[in-house]
Amino acid sequence: MAQKGALMKVGVVGLGYVGLVTAIVLANAGNTVIGVDIDNEKIANLKNRIVNIYEPGLEGAFNQAYDKINFSIDYASLKDTNLIYIIVSTPTKEGKILLDYVFDAIGSIKNSNDTATIVIKSTVVPGTARRVHERTGLEVVSNPEFIKEGNAIYDTIHPDRIIIGASNKKSLDLVENLWSFTKAPIVRTTNENAELIKYASNSFLATKISFINEIANLCEKIPNADIEVVAKGMGLDKRIGPYFLKAGIGYGGSCFLKDTRAFTNFARGLEEKLNIVEAAMKVNNDRINRIINLVKVEVDDKNIVVGVLGIAFKNNTNDMRESQALKLIKRMQEENFRVKAYDPVIKEVKGIEMVHSKEECIKTSNILIIATEWEEFKDIKTKKLIIDARRMLDMSKDNIIAIGVSGYNKKEEIL
Ligand code: UGA
Repeated sequence: MAQKGALMKVGVVGLGYVGLVTAIVLANAGNTVIGVDIDNEKIANLKNRIVNIYEPGLEGAFNQAYDKINFSIDYASLKDTNLIYIIVSTPTKEGKILLDYVFDAIGSIKNSNDTATIVIKSTVVPGTARRVHERTGLEVVSNPEFIKEGNAIYDTIHPDRIIIGASNKKSLDLVENLWSFTKAPIVRTTNENAELIKYASNSFLATKISFINEIANLCEKIPNADIEVVAKGMGLDKRIGPYFLKAGIGYGGSCFLKDTRAFTNFARGLEEKLNIVEAAMKVNNDRINRIINLVKVEVDDKNIVVGVLGIAFKNNTNDMRESQALKLIKRMQEENFRVKAYDPVIKEVKGIEMVHSKEECIKTSNILIIATEWEEFKDIKTKKLIIDARRMLDMSKDNIIAIGVSGYNKKEEIL
């Protein structure tokens, strides 16, 4: 095995959210990093220390890493690296994963370096690493990522586990050595298992959220029921655990929707139907309608202004990809509601009337919806009706309609 903790020269191709965080953490662990991206403007910005991602702790970590990362748009800069990470996006097209960016990047690497070991961190369907190996002859390791936006630096330094899939010991050793500083449990396995672990994990987490959201729907029909208490009681069972049992507007973000689509489509291609994951996707899609229905029950006048608090897909990020808040706004606009929105870090969105503060949003709207769980929404003061789609507020107040509770605020006091 390579000397434990020995430092390396590592390439990172794709400096989006995950790629940049990976490059920064590897550099701060003492490695030399070559960061490559085909986006000229992004590279120019990074060279000038400009990062366009809102992520707690990122700026400090980036400044610390800056001197140890060589940013470039040129694949030739990777010629002396023996380990190159692929962290490019893998979107879905018509529900099917699009692997073009992965194959293009690896093709470009091979032109300047045909001896490097490739490490795929992009989320790819099982069999992809093997296909890359067969096409290029390069050694390919699968090393999926499990970081959460809003907590990315911490998650990368303190992961719950590191999954490494490869077909030979030398490649497994190389990647294990690179991440040994994290002291996390390591699973060494086949490429296919590593690729599957990523999809199965994200699909399971998405299912957990949809499960609790479905029970939340039921709670709304049962006198004295409240999903927060039900989830707490369930989560104390160690076999269930307290995480990802927060009922709300439904899951958003670039990963869960894309990955559940790609995974179910991949399975169907093998003539297997992932019934549970498909049901979770359907439940999630229905969340928006349920929240709009709550508005409709309260007001039958479309001339009112609906104020939406939060646009990001969750708190502590400026990412609005597949955001449920955004989908809610678009669907309400389609139904001719006038919507105003406020987010602490997202200031401009095409086609949406944005206001500059939560106070302004409250003042200029007739009814409010909390769509992202930003800390600053916890102490909202208003007598106007608020639909709390994130369960952040004190429900004892008369003007709060909380999801997942029966009779809204008319619950009985438990002594
Ligand atoms: C998710 C996974 O949690 C990561 O492990 C994975 O690495 C990442 O996708 C990825 O594949 O790149 P992320 O999308 O950043 O991470 O965010 P999460 O914290 O998982 O939240 C996803 C969505 O679920 C958010 O919209 C959040 O508000 C929602 N959520 C989460 C709930 O509605 N309830 C919960 O209990 C938890």
